[in-house]
Amino acid sequence: MSAWKKHEVFEKNSFVLLIGILVAVAIGGLVEIAPLFYLKSTIEKTVGMRPYTPLELKGRDIYIREGCYLCHSQMVRPMRDEMERYGHFSLAAESMYDHPFQWGSKRTGPDLARVGGKYSDAWHTEHLINPRSLVPASIMPGYPFLAENKLDTRDTQSALTVNSIVGVPYTEEQIENAASDLMGQARPDTDAAYAFEERWPTAQIRDFDGNPDAVTEMDALVAYLQVLGTMVDFSIYDNKANSR
Ligand code: HEC
Repeated sequence: MSAWKKHEVFEKNSFVLLIGILVAVAIGGLVEIAPLFYLKSTIEKTVGMRPYTPLELKGRDIYIREGCYLCHSQMVRPMRDEMERYGHFSLAAESMYDHPFQWGSKRTGPDLARVGGKYSDAWHTEHLINPRSLVPASIMPGYPFLAENKLDTRDTQSALTVNSIVGVPYTEEQIENAASDLMGQARPDTDAAYAFEERWPTAQIRDFDGNPDAVTEMDALVAYLQVLGTMVDFSIYDNKANSR
């Protein structure tokens, strides 16, 4: 069997080699990129994921406004040390309704992807007002004004509309009632709360900041923190895996 000698053409002529490299890279690129154009979604459907409620969405806006992401990431990586500390690694589906997502890579403070339900509302409120009252060595700044600032709700409906334009599946009813749903989630036992519950059966309804007189920025931010990483019930998936 005689060896293939034509590769000399590539080795002796840098221009032909360049063309050869381009062709090889283009094939690799096509194989990776072409499927993205005909796959409807690259994110696996995951039970439990729902868009943020109006109040949570406002809380997320405050999270971004205050630059919390500069010190906190929101992505648990699939590595043992991270999973022992924070819980199940993050799924792509868990940030599919985040525009923009808050993964981050800077961890001056702990990752927050699964902080929902880890502490009480009162803990979060107190911690945000003065972190050192609960964690004496904390270097996190205090945000006491959040508890005093009434939540600006003027753009609630447009916030949902904009998110639905980029693909978040808000229903027309949810968009139409955004303003009253925002109030309802923070005011249990009111008509607005009952109406909210109909439209958002899996959301938590509470006076998040413990101040019944006003719906504040603290209400929104704590509602947001308390839902982080809690939408997917991993026991469903883990039980399935174990029964195999
Ligand atoms: C300068 C960096 C910095 C900024 C900005 C910052 N944090 Fe923190 N955060 C920390 C550090 C450090 C800790 C760990 C000490 C502590 O618990 O206070 C922490 C802890 C936390 C915790 C407790 C996490 C856990 O699992 O124990 C939460 C919740 C939190 N921060 C929320 C926020 C929110 C919300 C904002 C924005 C309003 C924010 N942080 C802004 C540094 C920061």
